[in-house]
Amino acid sequence: MLAIFIRMSRAVRVLEIGTLGGYSTIWMARALPPHGRVTTIEFNEHHAEVARQNINKAGLAEHVTLHIGAALNVLPTLKAPFDLIFIDADKVNNPHYLEWAIKLSQQGTVIVGDNTVRGGGVIDSCSDDPNVKGLREFVQMISEDERLEATAVQTVGEKGWDGFVMAIVKAR
Ligand SMILES: C[S@@+](CC[C@H](N)C(=O)[O-])C[C@H]1O[C@@H](n2cnc3c(N)ncnc32)[C@H](O)[C@@H]1O
Repeated sequence: MLAIFIRMSRAVRVLEIGTLGGYSTIWMARALPPHGRVTTIEFNEHHAEVARQNINKAGLAEHVTLHIGAALNVLPTLKAPFDLIFIDADKVNNPHYLEWAIKLSQQGTVIVGDNTVRGGGVIDSCSDDPNVKGLREFVQMISEDERLEATAVQTVGEKGWDGFVMAIVKAR
C-alpha cells in the first residue's frame, strides 16, 4: 500500500518514523524513482542493526538514510521538505509527530499514520491506554487542521482489524 501511495504521489523524498526491521522502508525505497531517498528513524539499536542488514541485502543502502535515536530528537535535525511521511512508531507521541510532519512538509505532502483503529480501541473513550489516547488526539488534530485534507481507512487482514489515516497537506 505504501509503495502504491509513493508511486501515486510521485514522492521522491520520504520520511519514516519507526523502522523496526526495515520492512516498510524497503517497500517504500523500492517504489522510489532512481534519485529517491527514504529517511527513517529507529530508537532501538538492535532493530536498527537488523534494518541496516536487511536494507543492505536488498541493495538499497544508497536510497536509505537510517537515523538511530528517539524521533523527537532526530526530527529537528532533518532538512525539509518531504513528499511522503509515514508515522509508525510509539503512538503516544503521534500528536508531536504530526506537528513535525507538517513542519517538514510542503503543499501536496502525503502523511500516513498507521494503526489508527486498533481493533476498535480508538473509539473507546474510556480507554486509559496511552497509545489509544495518542491516536485519538492525533486523529482529532488532523480533523481540526485546515491545512490538511484527510480520511481514515479500516483494514481487516491476517494481522486483524486495524487501519490508517492518510492526509494531504493542502497549504502550509
Ligand atoms: C510498528 S514498528 C515499525 C514498523 C515498520 N514501520 C514496518 O511497517 O515495517 C514501530 C517501531 O518504532 C520504534 N520506536 C518506538 N518509539 C520510538 C521513538 N520514540 N523514536 C523512534 N523509533 C521509535 C520501535 O522501536 C519499533 O521498531
